[in-house]
Amino acid sequence: MEKYRIQGGNRLHGEVEISGAKNAAVAIIPAALMVEGVCRIENLPQISDTDTLLLILESLGARVRMINPSTVEIDATHATWSGADYDRMRKIRASYYFVGSMLGRFGVARTTMPGGCNFGVRPIDQHVKGMNALGAEVEVSDYIDARAPGRRLRGSSVYLDKVSVGATMNIMIAAVLAEGRTVIENAAREPHIVDLANFLNSMGADVRGAGTDTIKVRGVERLHGGTYAIIPDQIEAGTYMAATAACGGEVLIRNVIPKHLDCISAKLREMEVIVEEYPESVLVRSTGRLRRANVKTQPYPGFPTDMQPQIGVALAIADGTSVITEGVWDNRYRYINELRKMGAQVQVDGRVAVVEGVKTLTGAGVAACDLRAGAAMVIAGLCAQGVTMVEDIHFIERGYQDLVGKLQNLGADIRIVDEPDEPVRRTAAAG
Ligand code: UD1
Repeated sequence: MEKYRIQGGNRLHGEVEISGAKNAAVAIIPAALMVEGVCRIENLPQISDTDTLLLILESLGARVRMINPSTVEIDATHATWSGADYDRMRKIRASYYFVGSMLGRFGVARTTMPGGCNFGVRPIDQHVKGMNALGAEVEVSDYIDARAPGRRLRGSSVYLDKVSVGATMNIMIAAVLAEGRTVIENAAREPHIVDLANFLNSMGADVRGAGTDTIKVRGVERLHGGTYAIIPDQIEAGTYMAATAACGGEVLIRNVIPKHLDCISAKLREMEVIVEEYPESVLVRSTGRLRRANVKTQPYPGFPTDMQPQIGVALAIADGTSVITEGVWDNRYRYINELRKMGAQVQVDGRVAVVEGVKTLTGAGVAACDLRAGAAMVIAGLCAQGVTMVEDIHFIERGYQDLVGKLQNLGADIRIVDEPDEPVRRTAAAG
């Protein structure tokens, strides 16, 4: 079984290039099902989640052609809604976006219930509410079956009871080809929501207000082909920022939108890390001695829940006591048990974790409980004394393009080994 072997203690130095945003890509690929014509997507992250979604698109009859590792052309002109690769759909969260795109394009949808990281209960009631508002009947069992009368959705107003990234994007996708106007209120505002809207608009949709809490979509008859480049990944960038903070060193993080990193930069500055912003990069400089801080995760523009485990590791070695409050998910502290094996002092009570900073962590055998928890374990291993072995790295490869190669370039001692401890040759982390 492949693992990461990390010899901790190296400072990080150099430059790292950030890939396209996972959470934008995983919505844009399913949305491409609605495009009649060739849709060229650039800055596609090479991660296993995007590979899986492209295979699902192919199973629906779309033609998928990789132009280079980060550019794909999709032609869904002759695609259909049935007979998808349901085994693959079941594995990943973002497969729920096919509900929106199938309903929008064909007026009928069949997907499995989505998989993905386990952060506790992950309901889809707001997605269903949105599709119902657009006129679809939705049945949820092991599968999600949905159908619009007359095979076309009708624009409508939807007020989300909960700020949900997934529901906002799914309803937006579905509404693009609906008849008439849709208004989504209490919408999520994450950068990937704006990116999805920009993608849809570049293919002929009429979406306005993405990035605010009210999104207006005027339905169009069809979407046409076009070219679109995905934004850089906020969370991948934040992960390298947290790693540099925890290990010490100086890293220029390139191909980012600094504005998207404001909440992370501000928190790191509170922890006495220097963060300098440039037009498309941020420079992070840290002595490795960090000051305590409190963190509360919230929907954008708040501190992202997907950065909570990574910042949690940095706080575990900061001077003083920090309090983390998880404002989005019920159960996002499973990584703490792993971190304790490395000597971290953390008490968890419901959504609150109290972190007593320790001088140093000690290498240990730990598991990646999910994607971001896995990234956190890597950071812990990088800043710990001794050797850390991280298991279940397939979770990490779902969302980080070439994490090992990028960290090695920064001077980290990390490699992939097969049990018991043999280096494994690998060309790409796409799985
Ligand atoms: C997406 C991200 C995930 C991130 C999360 C919050 C993807 C593939 N995943 O997940 O990495 O942690 O945004 O930034 O993009 N909720 C409901 N009913 C619903 C939907 C959500 O009650 O129908 C609740 C959830 O339980 C959660 C909150 O709303 O408490 C936010 O969830 P949501 O924003 O929908 O997360 P995802 O889109 O699943």
